[in-house]
Amino acid sequence: MRLKQHVIWGQRGSFILAATGSAVGLGNIWKFPYITGENGGGAFVLMYLACILLIGIPIMMGEILMGRRARANPILATAELCETAGASKGWTVIGWMGALAGLVILSFYTVIAGWTLEYVENALTGKFAGLDGESSQRLFDGLLADKGKLLQWHTAFTLMTVAILALGVTRGLESAVRVMMPALFVLLLVLLGYAAVEGEFVTSLRFMFSFNPEDLSWEAALIAMGHSFFTLSLGMGAIMAYGAYMPSNQSVGQTVLMVALLDTLVALVAGVAIFAFVFATPGISPGAGPGLMFVTLPVAFGNMSAGIVIGVIFFVMVILAAWTSTISLLEPGVAYLNERFGLSRILASLLLGAVAWTLGIGSVLSFNDWSDKQFLWGKSYFDSMDFLATNIMLPLGGVLIALFVGWKLRDEHLLHELKFESAALLRWWRPILKYLSPVAVLIVLINGVFPILRGVFVE
Ligand code: PHE
Repeated sequence: MRLKQHVIWGQRGSFILAATGSAVGLGNIWKFPYITGENGGGAFVLMYLACILLIGIPIMMGEILMGRRARANPILATAELCETAGASKGWTVIGWMGALAGLVILSFYTVIAGWTLEYVENALTGKFAGLDGESSQRLFDGLLADKGKLLQWHTAFTLMTVAILALGVTRGLESAVRVMMPALFVLLLVLLGYAAVEGEFVTSLRFMFSFNPEDLSWEAALIAMGHSFFTLSLGMGAIMAYGAYMPSNQSVGQTVLMVALLDTLVALVAGVAIFAFVFATPGISPGAGPGLMFVTLPVAFGNMSAGIVIGVIFFVMVILAAWTSTISLLEPGVAYLNERFGLSRILASLLLGAVAWTLGIGSVLSFNDWSDKQFLWGKSYFDSMDFLATNIMLPLGGVLIALFVGWKLRDEHLLHELKFESAALLRWWRPILKYLSPVAVLIVLINGVFPILRGVFVE
């Protein structure tokens, strides 16, 4: 049952901007560089690129197509497509698990995004001046220890997200991405130029692209695969929800290639720039973990001529990137409550924002009071939420989407949505989606997750 007809984004490029906005986020600028650092550099980058190409791109096409075909939020869309395809209702788990994964991701995402709000303030008030590796680490540790402050920024970012969603699909989401995304790209280019002039650019490139076979492991493969879902916002319905607002006369394949290309470029550029600063800063290692961006970059900003300006530019850019992602994490749930129960978008986003906010309190505490507590698989609360959503829920959602679109939807449904694609693309896409993507995801999931689960049970 559905109450309202979906809006369609009329302005040229809105869908690409929104989907790229969802994709480009903390995953690219904060997470990708630090997991690359922790997993050895080049070999990891290669596995990640392979996952984007063989798994991410085909599944993203499937997700967009489902949303646009049904023109509804992911939960109602899957229900409706099950009906048209004569498939079991069980497939609606795609929509439900996705909306849940969105809440889980949002809960810890706004905590990290909150750090960037603090760091804009730090940059503006001159706190970076003269920092070295040690004092920068102290500044960051001080923030993590201050749970009141973390909670305040977590709350602020949740409210920023709710505000855009409450404004609606056109006045909120569409206007936001049309302003924020171009701004983000300009800021990124300024930063890249600066890193090329001032940083250890060549060492950084060598680190990111030199291949070391001993760095290949199932765990690294799992992290690379999980990240390919995370960074492209796949497997949880964000892209499906946006697909419902995509005009029918746009090519799905071309759009997906563009979004995946932009997302990968931003990750690589951010990685190269950040490692260029890391290698130029004595006493800091590329494997520094989640603090990488917040510890190393301030040192660089604090010791250069235009440091305040560049520091503010950088952290504002991260805020824009994160903001255009958080709105997409909540959109599936908000659209569902709105279309299914007629709840106003204001109420729906406040309600789901409150749920995610509450779940996020554990992540706030995992950096201080709960830092020794273990939740799932011997990990902290924050790491548990991230691992559960990124490495299990998103890949599982992705497999289900691949199987559903590949095996259950009939040719006539697919061809209707893919009428602008070339015959060659169609020939390749369907078999990849039917066989290759699900099998690849399952192999990595089984080899990557089982040892971790088994390790816990043996202990
Ligand atoms: N893609 C976003 C990032 O890289 C995170 C995200 C995941 C957003 C899933 C929406 C859905 O930061």
